[in-house]
Amino acid sequence: MFVRNAWYVAAWTDEIGERPFARRILDEAIVLFRDASGTVAALEDRCCHRGTPLVFGRVVTQGLECGYHGLIFDGAGKCVLVPGGHLVPPGARVRSYPVVEKNQFVWIWMGDPKRADYSLVLDYPYHDDPRHWPHKHTVYRMHCDYMLVIDNLMDLSHLGYVHGGTVGGAPATHVEAKMHTTRTATGVKFDRWMLDSVPPPTYVAAAGFEGRIDRWQETEFFPISTVVQWIGAVSAGTGSLRNWKYEGDRSAGFSFRLFHGITPETATSCYYFWSVANGYRQNEASATEQLFNETARTFDQDKAILEAQQIRMLETPDGPLIDIHGDGPRIQARRVVDRLLAEENANAAGQPIIVSRSAG
Ligand code: FES
Ligand SMILES: [Fe+2]
Repeated sequence: MFVRNAWYVAAWTDEIGERPFARRILDEAIVLFRDASGTVAALEDRCCHRGTPLVFGRVVTQGLECGYHGLIFDGAGKCVLVPGGHLVPPGARVRSYPVVEKNQFVWIWMGDPKRADYSLVLDYPYHDDPRHWPHKHTVYRMHCDYMLVIDNLMDLSHLGYVHGGTVGGAPATHVEAKMHTTRTATGVKFDRWMLDSVPPPTYVAAAGFEGRIDRWQETEFFPISTVVQWIGAVSAGTGSLRNWKYEGDRSAGFSFRLFHGITPETATSCYYFWSVANGYRQNEASATEQLFNETARTFDQDKAILEAQQIRMLETPDGPLIDIHGDGPRIQARRVVDRLLAEENANAAGQPIIVSRSAG
């Protein structure tokens, strides 16, 4: 069961070129294409003539032409041409989905189009600021429930175990990290500090730290399925943490930003759109490339764990699962999603919303 009235990342803008592009989102077959004016549109990937996937067609001046008998649909899903100049039958249309291109993403609204509120699309300006935040991005197809990816991002105590050779470092550093979790207007945020710690291999390779570091990870979950992070380090002792504010010059160190947009494909598979932007050595393309490669190596490790976890969970759906100390932010993120799902179901049933706005 998915929250439908929400914006999900459907694609990176550079994935949508001259040919129609298919993707299954919330278990619905979608075809994306760029019309003659360059505007991206998303339609149900099923022709209303004989049910053929429209992805087999081609983009023409008037819209998307079905690859079977040549009906043409515009970006709103309306059939605008039947070959041979024949009459377009009434009701000849396919479902269209609201989409918007912003900050290198194509976002899609999967619910009631009348409720699509463009002001709710997340701002991620770093993608459009290559001078300060050069970035590189990709998408992984994951064979797991999208919520397992969110769990993984909201519980960073796994870093020392899964990513010891890259961004992790010693497990004890992570287990002993100072944590501060707060509710935000819509989601959950947590800050982690590992003061006076040994730099992990990726940080040494990227920034050349020789001594110990004060290291931070600021992580924020934006419903429905986006997590953004600002991560970095400065040489230990150049500042201090007071009331969860670091009194010191963080711009003097090394930092990077991670974007994670997780879009369900099915109940047990998802698309993981991620990017990494470096806030150091911005003039060196090799720095961005190196950070991307290290991050990809890191996320490949997550992918292996999460897909194996999904298999075991499917084998033992009633098996016990316990919560431990580090699960706090993860549990809060799940509560937000559960509450939104409950609200949406209540609305669909015409019932008043009885779940409170508080995520707690
Ligand atoms: S199935 Fe699309 S035009 Fe016939
Ligand atoms: Fe990880």
